[in-house]
Amino acid sequence: MQILSVSSLKGGVGKTSVTMGLASAALHQGVRTLVVDLDPHADSTTGLAVARGTGTEAGQLLRDAKRANLSDHVVRSGWVDLLPQEHRSDATLDVVVGSALSAAFDRPDIRPRDMRRLRLLLLDRVTGYDLVLIDCPPSLAGLTRIGWSASNGVLMVAEPSLFSVAGTERTMRAIRMFSNEYAPQLKSAGVVVNRVRADSAEHEYRLLEMERLYKDKLMLPVLEENPFWQQIQGAAYPVHQWPSDQVRDLARSFDQLLEQLV
Ligand SMILES: Nc1ncnc2c1ncn2[C@@H]1O[C@H](COP(=O)(O)OP(=O)(O)OP(=O)(O)O)[C@@H](O)[C@H]1O
Ligand SMILES: [Mg+2]
Repeated sequence: MQILSVSSLKGGVGKTSVTMGLASAALHQGVRTLVVDLDPHADSTTGLAVARGTGTEAGQLLRDAKRANLSDHVVRSGWVDLLPQEHRSDATLDVVVGSALSAAFDRPDIRPRDMRRLRLLLLDRVTGYDLVLIDCPPSLAGLTRIGWSASNGVLMVAEPSLFSVAGTERTMRAIRMFSNEYAPQLKSAGVVVNRVRADSAEHEYRLLEMERLYKDKLMLPVLEENPFWQQIQGAAYPVHQWPSDQVRDLARSFDQLLEQLV
């Protein structure tokens, strides 16, 4: 089982969007997937069309980590219902729903034993998934540490801008330190570059800089800025099912990224 935290210490760069795109690719390719929404804003939960009030919130599950059986508390993404009837019964896309409750764990001074709560819930007690995607909040406080402690890899998301490049370097350093201190299994899974505009000289410059800095960790293809993305997310739709040719390249990019990760 591949367990990936989707992280950036900088906010708004596309963590949730990348989580959504990979989940959509996974559903499309028959990769059995669980999305853990660790962000108290619960954007992934909204985007994955989870029925309101269903499932047990991540914050509650973290509290009950020693006793809870995770499989009893996940909910199915509403995206599965959008698949053709004959594919629905084979498809697995489940969600640990997010909510403001999990914010109680987002302390910078979280204790190591609290950091291991998601790891306890996932390891040994969960089967039936090929991939777990953990959508993290944009900081290195308690919730991201909880996500990283449970993960094999951190998938970083960056934009082609100076501040985001600097933020990604900080994230890489933080992964190395965290892995040395608490989580020897944890690796950098790669850097996904999001919101790239082909006509921007600044983006071209930053991409070259990222190639130089991150070498083989830079994942290709990069994801282009797509004017339909917000509409797709607003409709809580998987990008692979969106009925328009203008997002076909974006969906294909997520397929290629997923193939490298699983
Ligand atoms: N490739 C893209 N093209 C166009 N819009 C995008 C793209 N990627 C993300 N966005 C938009 O940018 C906004 C921020 O994206 P998203 O919520 O995924 O970032 P985030 O890193 O999860 O943010 P946060 O740090 O708040 O959790 C959203 O409105 C999203 O629709
Ligand atoms: Mg987010």
